[in-house]
Amino acid sequence: MAKILVTGGLGYIGSHTVVALQEAGFKVVIVDNLSNASIKVLDGILAITGKLPEFENFDLRDKHKTQQFLKKHEDISGVIHFAASKAVGESVENPLLYYENNVNTLIYLLQELNKKDNANFIFSSSCTVYGQADVMPITEEAPIKQAESPYGNTKQIGEAIIKDTCKANKNVNAIALRYFNPIGAHKSSKIGELPIGVPQNLVPYITQTGAGIREQLSVFGDDYPTTDGTCVRDYIHVVDLANAHLVALQRLLDKENQNNFEVFNLGTGTGSSVLEVIKSFERVSNKNLNYKIVERREGDIVSAFADTKKANSVLGWKAKSTLDDAMDSAWKWQQTL
Ligand code: NAD
Ligand code: WQD
Repeated sequence: MAKILVTGGLGYIGSHTVVALQEAGFKVVIVDNLSNASIKVLDGILAITGKLPEFENFDLRDKHKTQQFLKKHEDISGVIHFAASKAVGESVENPLLYYENNVNTLIYLLQELNKKDNANFIFSSSCTVYGQADVMPITEEAPIKQAESPYGNTKQIGEAIIKDTCKANKNVNAIALRYFNPIGAHKSSKIGELPIGVPQNLVPYITQTGAGIREQLSVFGDDYPTTDGTCVRDYIHVVDLANAHLVALQRLLDKENQNNFEVFNLGTGTGSSVLEVIKSFERVSNKNLNYKIVERREGDIVSAFADTKKANSVLGWKAKSTLDDAMDSAWKWQQTL
């Protein structure tokens, strides 16, 4: 079976994708520097799949080590590149860290893949590349607007780097997957999201509040032009997201891609407001959530949800889980922590 490199494979989305890959019979080698992950994630992957993936702990910003690694693992058939820094607020405080980590690691990997006769590459992009889109749902054709943060800019730059590389070298085949808002955890509760410190994202904040770790959730604004006044997002179960990577990878391995650089939105296609997410949590946990409405958060967009027609028809992939399924898995995972 083909051997796949998963960078950032001990992180949130990476670990769920490693599980999906191993369950589909792929051999996996993970590179992760543990900057935002725990080594214990390997135990979770082993417990779910019965297989321990190969793992190397090094920093992909080290160009020499990256070169040595790819020389040693010449038989790699595909790369899924999750490794990146992902906190929007931190990227505003420390933009150089974000440009260095998210752009350099990508360039070093592509420089090595560029030497191969056939290279298959999947990139973690984000709905953040659209900013506040003018039309909902958001199609892949929506304009890429001025990035709202250095983090968002690294995803725009990343896509541009891959596009140019693919244009210059037809041996490099790439797919950029634009995730909307990934939430939830594996049904086994053996792996899930592990935010370090105070969570910045809605769902871990909700589950930590439900668990009594946080006192109260602040809902950032209820005067937006949406049905209930709170912001709307497209929350996608992380296991559905992981499965989409499998489908995209198989497309490249089977040479079914129509272009050597393709882009797909990955979402459910349904927008949910912050209050709807809270209600979903309350339904699945049988708890009342302590929350209050506060001022808007600077930089928040009003609404973003995906048009998933392209992924549905071209990849033959569709998100299966409901918001309640995802919230239920997130809550079960929280209770194991
Ligand atoms: P995560 O932080 O849980 O995982 C990233 C992993 O990469 C971590 O395990 C970290 O230790 C590792 N890493 C970071 N820099 C590294 C380096 N230089 N060398 C080696 N390892 C390194 O994040 P995630 O939520 O799983 O996100 C994965 C990818 O998806 C990222 O590229 C992120 O930008 C993108 N993305 C995430 C979301 C989201 O909301 N979670 C949404 C859209 C896109
Ligand atoms: C969701 C909604 C908040 C916390 C971020 C990144 C984006 C992408 C996904 C990577 C918003 C509200 C949140 C809280 C709240 N990541 N909220 N109280 O902002 O859609 O996107 O993650 O690419 O780039 O910006 O996700 O989970 O932070 O917020 O009311 O304590 O929940 O205002 O409406 P967001 P989020």
